[in-house]
Amino acid sequence: MPPTDSLRIMLRLGLLVLCCLYGVLADTPAHCLFEDIKGTWTFQETERSGDNTLNCDTLGPIVHTKNFTLSFPNTAMDELGNEGTWTMIWNQGFEVNINERSYFAFSYYEGDFTSSTSYCDRTFNGWSRDKTMRNWSCYGAQKNTPVRARKSQKLTTPAEKLAQKYKNDEKMINDINASQKSWTAKAYPEIEKYTVAEMLNRGGGPGSVLPYPPSPAPASEELKAKISLLPDNFDWRNVEGVNYIAPVRDQGSCGSCYTFASMGQVEARLRIATKNQRQDVLSPQDAVSCSVLSQGCAGGFNFLIAGRYAQDQGLVAEECNAYDATDSACDTDTSCARTYVSDYSYLGGYYGACNEELMLQALIELGPLSVSYQVYDDFYNYNGGIYHHTEFKNDFNPFEMVNHAVLLVGYGVEPSTGEKFWTVKNSWGDTWGESGYFRIRRGTNECSIESMAVDITAIP
Ligand SMILES: *[C@@H]1O[C@H](CO)[C@@H](O)[C@H](O)[C@H]1NC(C)=O
Ligand SMILES: *[C@@H]1O[C@H](CO)[C@@H](O)[C@H](O)[C@H]1NC(C)=O
Ligand SMILES: *[C@@H]1O[C@H](CO)[C@@H](O)[C@H](O)[C@H]1NC(C)=O
Repeated sequence: MPPTDSLRIMLRLGLLVLCCLYGVLADTPAHCLFEDIKGTWTFQETERSGDNTLNCDTLGPIVHTKNFTLSFPNTAMDELGNEGTWTMIWNQGFEVNINERSYFAFSYYEGDFTSSTSYCDRTFNGWSRDKTMRNWSCYGAQKNTPVRARKSQKLTTPAEKLAQKYKNDEKMINDINASQKSWTAKAYPEIEKYTVAEMLNRGGGPGSVLPYPPSPAPASEELKAKISLLPDNFDWRNVEGVNYIAPVRDQGSCGSCYTFASMGQVEARLRIATKNQRQDVLSPQDAVSCSVLSQGCAGGFNFLIAGRYAQDQGLVAEECNAYDATDSACDTDTSCARTYVSDYSYLGGYYGACNEELMLQALIELGPLSVSYQVYDDFYNYNGGIYHHTEFKNDFNPFEMVNHAVLLVGYGVEPSTGEKFWTVKNSWGDTWGESGYFRIRRGTNECSIESMAVDITAIP
């Protein structure tokens, strides 16, 4: 059973409380690495006659058997020598694009976040369709050489600690303020309404077991030369006086940051493409409740929502499925028009190819990028300035590092110190940080923010 469906069934059965108290569900527990996935695979595919409502819970009769060889860094090749591309999505699964078709499936695992075994040489049932989004099929993939099963254990925070109320730590805030001048922290009394588990959800959902994404790839000399000609400061909220960014929102206690980052990216790209004639506010709830490519309030990925879901199924306006911050059943108004993207990719072409220079170029030439980064406990109390992770810890709450998705809208250089920064739209309401935004150190892959930016092309 695909992970999303098993999760949805758990949720329907009312097991949500159980899973969130244990804080063990976020993204999927699969932990598969590039080395596990590269190699030759056999894809077994059903008849190519479905549409985007195709359900792949069960595979059905196999009509096509294809062998694809996936090699470094992103080349896919079939038995006939036809070439395509592929990419990992974090440690969760992989997408293959070849012979005018696109395939995506989650890597296979058993267990949950506290204790799981990943079988990286096979996938859950996935979805395949042609480049024009027609002729859908289901498939399952098996690698032709076995990969040793990987056991993952996670030291999870005890349930009673996750259930306790989150508390601001004045000492940590003072220490941050006193120890450095780049950024300031402050107490947010309003976040004490959340439990520790809910705060972890706000930060991205309890992290998957991949501790760090890949380091940024080196930039070419040619790209560096191009970048040197860009302005020192740029911000899509003020391009010669014009704002292309939709208002900041608040994700509440649901681990849905990736849907807010994704909607924010498509909203901004629509505004840019139409010179603000279209000012959509899109529905994160639709992606939370209806997408088989996400884990709802337990996490997901920009690549799969701003990218693949927006291409496969399209996005709807907020009023077609108003945000409720829960794993509610999918009840999107089917009469609503859907907005699609025609293209999506990790910057540089695949997961692992990103860097600051590519991000600068794409940000300014194409528009806001959805990104993700590691959230430590000092970040929740960010007040203003240019964030970098400090060593200070909140002594009241148990620590779990989580991975948060957000929208990059600008960059600059602080004149007094020369410190370079990114400007980023968060989804924690407009009273948090710098009117809902934060700045974070640029050029040093701070908290891995330069490791996996996603680009899309929205169709206005
Ligand atoms: C594509 O789908 C249609 C039905 O939707 C079917 O008639 C056709 O044979 C399919 N094409 C391929 C190549 O399977
Ligand atoms: C695909 O790979 C499998 C396993 O190595 C092999 O048995 C099969 O003949 C291959 N099929 C094609 C079409 O190359
Ligand atoms: C830290 O500095 C910020 C900004 O100057 C201020 O708002 C906040 O109250 C300070 N907090 C503490 C505990 O010193």
